[in-house]
Amino acid sequence: MEIRIVADEEQRGEVVADLVEQMLREAGSAPVTLGLATGSSPLPAYTELIRRHRENGLSFAPVNAVLLDEYVGLPAEHEQSYHRFIRDSFTAHIDIDDRAVLSPNGCAADPDAEALAYDRRIREGGGVDLQILGIGSNGHIAFNEPGSSLASRTRVVSLTRSTISDNARFFDSAQSVPQRAISQGLGTIGEARRIVLTASGEAKAEAIAQMAEGPVSARWPATTLQFHPDVTVVIDEAAASRLELDDYSRLHREPGTAGAGADHTAR
Ligand code: F6R
Repeated sequence: MEIRIVADEEQRGEVVADLVEQMLREAGSAPVTLGLATGSSPLPAYTELIRRHRENGLSFAPVNAVLLDEYVGLPAEHEQSYHRFIRDSFTAHIDIDDRAVLSPNGCAADPDAEALAYDRRIREGGGVDLQILGIGSNGHIAFNEPGSSLASRTRVVSLTRSTISDNARFFDSAQSVPQRAISQGLGTIGEARRIVLTASGEAKAEAIAQMAEGPVSARWPATTLQFHPDVTVVIDEAAASRLELDDYSRLHREPGTAGAGADHTAR
């Protein structure tokens, strides 16, 4: 796992956007699958990618996008559905065909069957080339809450009280937050060829420290990423504040000072 600590939100967005752009350039015109997270953490990266599309002509034409999750019971057009969120905040502003942006149908008559079919569609589509992730303050990734099997596949999950209260800010009240979601499983996410996880703020510090340095455990689902060979973590100082090992790469020193441009430490 490679940890890159950045100075501010702008740089956090740039470093994640660099990884996406690198993947797109390596692929050329070949189709690629980009895994997208919703939530606030990837927004600086989406803003930066939209800017590069508009100003530098970065093209997403060969991209198929797959979302991690969707609330059960929210129609696609609901303003808090992840279907809508990703369009409003990212994909409607770049050159990606709307039909190439895939998410679970939260209103499927049979959510369990929808989850199975979604997992199969990802696999049959050749899998995810680069997955962008956020992390919950309780260590969840997608909606894999503490206690999730590290081998779990896409399925219907119940949200914990902590996640419902974290997400209540997007709804009128905690009571309006849906209690269930269809979420890619930890096993499903772990099949992505590359993963970039991004977070900011003190509230994520414990989850980040557990993910990078703690024992692998269902108590902190993101610790499963320690098994993945290609994970980059892009965080600010506050989110890094509980890491105990001290030689992670800091990308924000002024040129000429100690550590400027230092190669990152890959683990
Ligand atoms: C979103 C998702 C969640 C979020 C996590 C962090 O698709 O799967 O795991 O990444 O809850 O949310 P934010 O970024 O809003 O703090």
